[in-house]
Amino acid sequence: MKVLILGGGGREHALAWKLRQSPRVTEVFCAPGNGGISQVVTCIPIALREIDRLIAFAKEHEIGLTVVGPDDALAAGMVDRFVAAGLRIFGPTQAAARLESSKVFAKEFMQRHGIPTARSGHFTNSSEARAFAAGMGLPVVIKADGLALGKGVIIAETRAEAEEAIRQIMDERKFGDAGRAVVIEEFLEGPECSIHALVDGTSALLFPSAQDHKRALDNDQGLNTGGMGTYSPAPQLTAELEAFVRTEVLDRFLAGIKAEGLAYSGMLFPGLILTKTGPKVLEFNCRFGDPETQVLLARLEDDLLELLEATIDGTLARQSPRWKAGSAVCVIAASGGYPEAYEADKLISGLDRASEDSVVFHAGTRLAVDGVHTAGGRVLGVTATGATLGEARDQAYKALREIHFEGMHFRRDIAVKGLAC
Ligand code: AMP
Ligand code: GLY
Repeated sequence: MKVLILGGGGREHALAWKLRQSPRVTEVFCAPGNGGISQVVTCIPIALREIDRLIAFAKEHEIGLTVVGPDDALAAGMVDRFVAAGLRIFGPTQAAARLESSKVFAKEFMQRHGIPTARSGHFTNSSEARAFAAGMGLPVVIKADGLALGKGVIIAETRAEAEEAIRQIMDERKFGDAGRAVVIEEFLEGPECSIHALVDGTSALLFPSAQDHKRALDNDQGLNTGGMGTYSPAPQLTAELEAFVRTEVLDRFLAGIKAEGLAYSGMLFPGLILTKTGPKVLEFNCRFGDPETQVLLARLEDDLLELLEATIDGTLARQSPRWKAGSAVCVIAASGGYPEAYEADKLISGLDRASEDSVVFHAGTRLAVDGVHTAGGRVLGVTATGATLGEARDQAYKALREIHFEGMHFRRDIAVKGLAC
């Protein structure tokens, strides 16, 4: 079968790497892909907003399965369009993906179905939002309703910061239409981790847990990023807490979509915070995480194609994939300046040596005549597995030390929290 992957980040590189290993996959294409993906599969220069061209490509090349990477493609109705064209595609429809693309919709869904989450209110009127925020304790969390490249969440430490956040999101429309409404939420404390679960409409298949590092600098300092590194499993999510997540989050989610007639098919990736009173859902993502996918797929022993097809066919209950024992760690190498304005087009050295005992997934890279150049904020995700978390971590950092480009920065404390457990 021929497979088409949509996207061009580290997540899509990991998907391409894994799907290429499937005995049933004859060829993998990726649109638009990146420098690293183009070294393993065929990249095609079609942007994700050009849905008609993607559909024409899939038809012409007899693509048997298309896999959607990013959230905005789902929110734009990529899946609906492919299905209407008679093509097989992995991911939720536009209506189902609202669980990620509208935080108001997600909160209301959680409240209707008793899924544990932070206490909150939501508003389309900024004076009402300000009045509600004034009645909350501090810090208070202000969230733009729509997709905002991971930047639409502000943790306000003071009343003035809360007011300013509401003004910027709602009155100034800093994130455009994503700020038509806001969610104002109580601040929760505890370690964060996430789970991934394939959902076929009636059952959910839980992947191992993972933990991302969202802040740019060591010890969770600096600005929020798309994610600076991950490890899996996250020992903070004990077997007992995982059982709680199964019944209180996933089972309730399944009951909820059934009750509402919401046909959800695809990956569900809830962000969790493990509070003293139990795990609570911070958000739903309706896709594979980036860089969570890098560590999860590094640990998956079985054929990813089987799992994606079972999700579409509604036969997930029959699947029980095997996972590598031990751990996986992914450390992101980012461009100088990221997550703010960053430098690009720097030549990267050491990729071959780093790839000897680890997998280097590319994010913002492009191929040039003299080698691989940087072409984005997050550049590489150096991923290693090991019998223990410590071994995986040492291996990933050993490989990372081989890599150089001007301005490169990375966190030195990825997975340290897991080692302390
Ligand atoms: P979200 O996009 O909703 O996951 O939020 C992004 C990040 O903001 C999360 O990963 C948390 O670190 C933080 N965050 C969001 N909501 C809360 C909350 N209610 N309490 C504490 N931190 C939060
Ligand atoms: N790593 C966080 C995300 O993919 O949303």
